Amino acid sequence: MAIKDIDWSSIGFSYIETDYSYVSMYKDGKWDEGTLTKEHTVTMSECAGVLQYSQSCFEGLKAYRTEDGKIVTFRPDLNGQRMIDSCKRLEMPEFPMERFLDAVDQVVKANADWVPPYGSGATLYIRPYMFGYNSVIGVKPADEYMFRILVTPVGPYFKGGAKPIVLRIPDFDRAAPHGTGNIKAGLNYAMSLHPVMEAHREGYAENMYLDPATRTYIEETGGANIIFIKDGGKTLVTPKSDSILPSITRRSICYVAEHYLGMNVEQRRIPYAEITEMEEMGLCGTAAVISPVGRVDDHGKQICIPTGMENVGPVTKKLYDTLTGIQMGTIEAPEGWIREIKAD
Ligand code: PLP
Ligand code: COI
Repeated sequence: MAIKDIDWSSIGFSYIETDYSYVSMYKDGKWDEGTLTKEHTVTMSECAGVLQYSQSCFEGLKAYRTEDGKIVTFRPDLNGQRMIDSCKRLEMPEFPMERFLDAVDQVVKANADWVPPYGSGATLYIRPYMFGYNSVIGVKPADEYMFRILVTPVGPYFKGGAKPIVLRIPDFDRAAPHGTGNIKAGLNYAMSLHPVMEAHREGYAENMYLDPATRTYIEETGGANIIFIKDGGKTLVTPKSDSILPSITRRSICYVAEHYLGMNVEQRRIPYAEITEMEEMGLCGTAAVISPVGRVDDHGKQICIPTGMENVGPVTKKLYDTLTGIQMGTIEAPEGWIREIKAD
């Protein structure tokens, strides 16, 4: 067993096939015992629930190699719980928490050689997902489901790594009021593809969505929550909304800001107009980690964040260093945040 010989510093956020995936089938009202598989394709009915009515949800977390050579995952129980919440909303069977944690452990352990080295800037992205498997032609939930986990090594989500990005305010909404914005349903991402491609064509990294009901409050981007720093670096503000995904990274950053950095943390509705009072801005998520934002464009009007397009704000940097230090084992983690994947 040896870590794969890859130029880890040059990989981006794209799929590289690894050795094993995990698969479990739900049939006749119960999950089978699940297994690791070397088969990386899926065969199913042309009329499968996922193909006809997009009945699917997923999760995203990472495995890290720590300075002392351990392999760990970060708060996987919160991903397991969020997947249960997604399944409830989509009339899909829950994959039990203990099974979820065990499956993540198994698939990471089986692909240990694919966990990038400490300090390489890359990590192993873990993608649990579930979908309606059997044929469904009337609009109704499937009876059979496939739960799988694939893993793939990844680098930074946004090109340029720590370089500030520019967002735009789109004319589209990401989620409906009382819709599915607060769960990790595949359909939320399908409908974000057109707005994000339009943003890319105009030279923007992502869209900053406003609340779908009134378009006057800040929500999130297509794949990450948002954090702001204000009050001379003393306060972290982050949007509270029923139509954004409850980010595990954001919840962790709020804890770090309050308990490690002694900051005030406000999770509340943020009027869009308040953006001009913000000193620093960042996107946060498993893929994005914390990506600094330098500017937001709104139909020809430029909103410049004071930290500009060259620098990462000092508080954003401290939050990034503390969070990644906890994930990589150089800073002591709060109880229960780190799960070690033990070698046999
Ligand atoms: N918001 C959206 C829409 C996402 O897709 C993600 C990624 O999972 C996040 C926020 C960040 O969530 P987390 O920190 O749990 O990865
Ligand atoms: C993640 O951060 O894990 C996500 O799922 C975001 C996705 C857009 C890659």
